[in-house]
Amino acid sequence: MAHQVRAVVARGKGAPVSLETIIVPDPGPGEALVKIEACGVCHTDLHYREGGINDEFPFLLGHEAAGVVESVGEGVTDVAPGDFVILNWRAVCGQCRACLRGRPWYCFSTHNAKQKMTLTDGTELSPALGIGAFAEKTLVAAGQCTKVDRAASAAAAGLLGCGVMAGIGAAINTGNVGRGDSVAVIGCGGVGAAAVVGSNLAGAAKIIAVDIDDAKLDTAKKLGATHTVNSKDADPVEAIRDLTGGFGADVVIEAVGRPETYKQAFYARDLAGTVVLVGVPTPEMKLELPLLDVFGRGGALKSSWYGDCLPSRDFPMLIDLYLQGRLDLDAFVTETIALDEVEKAFERMHRGDVLRSVVVL
Ligand code: APR
Ligand code: ZN
Ligand code: ZN
Repeated sequence: MAHQVRAVVARGKGAPVSLETIIVPDPGPGEALVKIEACGVCHTDLHYREGGINDEFPFLLGHEAAGVVESVGEGVTDVAPGDFVILNWRAVCGQCRACLRGRPWYCFSTHNAKQKMTLTDGTELSPALGIGAFAEKTLVAAGQCTKVDRAASAAAAGLLGCGVMAGIGAAINTGNVGRGDSVAVIGCGGVGAAAVVGSNLAGAAKIIAVDIDDAKLDTAKKLGATHTVNSKDADPVEAIRDLTGGFGADVVIEAVGRPETYKQAFYARDLAGTVVLVGVPTPEMKLELPLLDVFGRGGALKSSWYGDCLPSRDFPMLIDLYLQGRLDLDAFVTETIALDEVEKAFERMHRGDVLRSVVVL
């Protein structure tokens, strides 16, 4: 039996999103039907509706979500109806070269549900990041569901499904931030603020938050930044060096995704330090650096895909820390909104007013 539910759809490039009735099939082999409880509004949803990702309209938006498994298809053993789960957009395959080498967080062959969700006239929907969770129910691959403690708030838990995990993971997984390290985070939106939180969790001694917006710096400070630098007023490379005894930071996390901020990150780290790029650049961006500096400064230049997270390892662990009061995920929920308010949330996001607006169903 297929399910008719309300959902947020982007029908065409740049057009405002609309609330539509969609058809969600019952789960087939390896799939799970999830009743969505909360889903955060992310920049990527806006990129989809602006045609910035691809042209496969209509899109079913939403991908930072938590909910309850309603039913599962044949062969699904990892999750069961009634499980409270966070959705992820990289269900690992277990069989590619990365998985077989024991590095499943790099899986090169992640998958989604095979069946399509549709509009009532049969038009197939493209779910954002293979999820599509601005909907009362959605269909995903069972591997996209990670069971976590039901005691967590759905609005906070869902955020681990994308931006907040990317930021925390950029610090703890990709950057390997450790006790006593100095860290600088360039760009303190949702992702950078989460990198501040991750660095704090990992025991960094110094956490320098850099942004061009004082409000973002205030938030970063509340979340554990020990120092802030407004890079509209000051050269961030000099400021970070000054704050680290003239050396530069051990780890610099770039959470903007632009060549000029990447260069700042590159020069603001200590010799043999680490740069982590978690901000996502656009195709036309180019980087120019003296190759001798790349060699001479040593260390590691890394990219962080989704915080190099492994949902089965990281989601339950971070939810436990949240429930113990050691990780303030609620701080990322600036407002909760209804399903028909996503377009308004895009406007607020565009103005930079929010860390996250979260749709609660
Ligand atoms: N220097 C410092 N900070 C900057 C600069 C700059 N030149 N330009 C923009 N910023 C700051 C903004 O003020 C904002 O606080 O970067 C932050 C970006 O935050 P958001 O727009 O909220 O984006 P976020 O969701 O955090 O994602 C950051 O990671 O996942 C990717 O696509 C995403 O590239 C984006 C990045
Ligand atoms: Zn794999
Ligand atoms: Zn996202």
